[in-house]
Amino acid sequence: MTGPVVARTRDDLADALAAAETVSAVVMTMGALHEGHRALMRAARELVGDDGTVIVTVFVNPLQFGAGEDFDRYPRPFETDLAVCAEEGVDVVFAPDEAELYPGGRPEVTIEPGPLGAELEGAVRPGHFAGVLTVVAKLLNLTVPAYALFGEKDYQQLTLVRRMTADLELPYEIVGVPTVREDDGLALSSRNRYLSPDERTAALALSRALRAGAGAAASGPEAVVAAAAAELTVDTVDVDYLELRGPALEPAPDHGPARLLVAARVGHTRLIDNAAIDLP
Ligand code: PAF
Repeated sequence: MTGPVVARTRDDLADALAAAETVSAVVMTMGALHEGHRALMRAARELVGDDGTVIVTVFVNPLQFGAGEDFDRYPRPFETDLAVCAEEGVDVVFAPDEAELYPGGRPEVTIEPGPLGAELEGAVRPGHFAGVLTVVAKLLNLTVPAYALFGEKDYQQLTLVRRMTADLELPYEIVGVPTVREDDGLALSSRNRYLSPDERTAALALSRALRAGAGAAASGPEAVVAAAAAELTVDTVDVDYLELRGPALEPAPDHGPARLLVAARVGHTRLIDNAAIDLP
């Protein structure tokens, strides 16, 4: 198995992409790759075909971490990540360091995520989505893909990336890929590795809450939230928010497609999850 071309600089990336010269799809990651990332890579391959180019970016973006968050301890198992990319038949891995991606220091001009950027995750993590959208815009412009794939696990991120490309006329197609879960329902996340066995058991309350919410859809939006909330009364699960919204995170509709979103702290680990809800 020949592994992917590893580009550490923007010049190496440009060379690798010029050599490939085919339709391409990018999967942006912060490394610590798991089955959820593999699902994104496979969906990327489906979109571009055997002759297309699948690009994975690996960069732990300091701009999107707040003071006191886990930037320093965020896992960086690069050799293992590279092996995952090789197994998935990825063509190019772009793994710049901070000086390469932010050569003039941290950017002064950044992407302002608008009102949605201050809600839900943004209310708890000020500046987070400006940091995410700024690096996503840069990585889109450096990789110039036909498609960029993002997991539905970070549903607000996916929604804001879609909104950014629409509002700013960025010519990239954004594709959402369903969340991958463990057999017991836990949504895959690079941060799950921080959980102790007891915390991991407690963390199942999030996916249980989403299932309970979906099960109450026939009784209307309030019943959805109430059923979900009843599953979150676990001592060691400290809920940041539980909200029902519309599919683009507008206020929840009375009928039709909606999204139930939850965030909670379990021990020192902050977890998020969400699910589609169909309100009859
Ligand atoms: O979802 C992530 O891993 C990150 O937010 C992203 C999209 C790679 C930007 O740093």
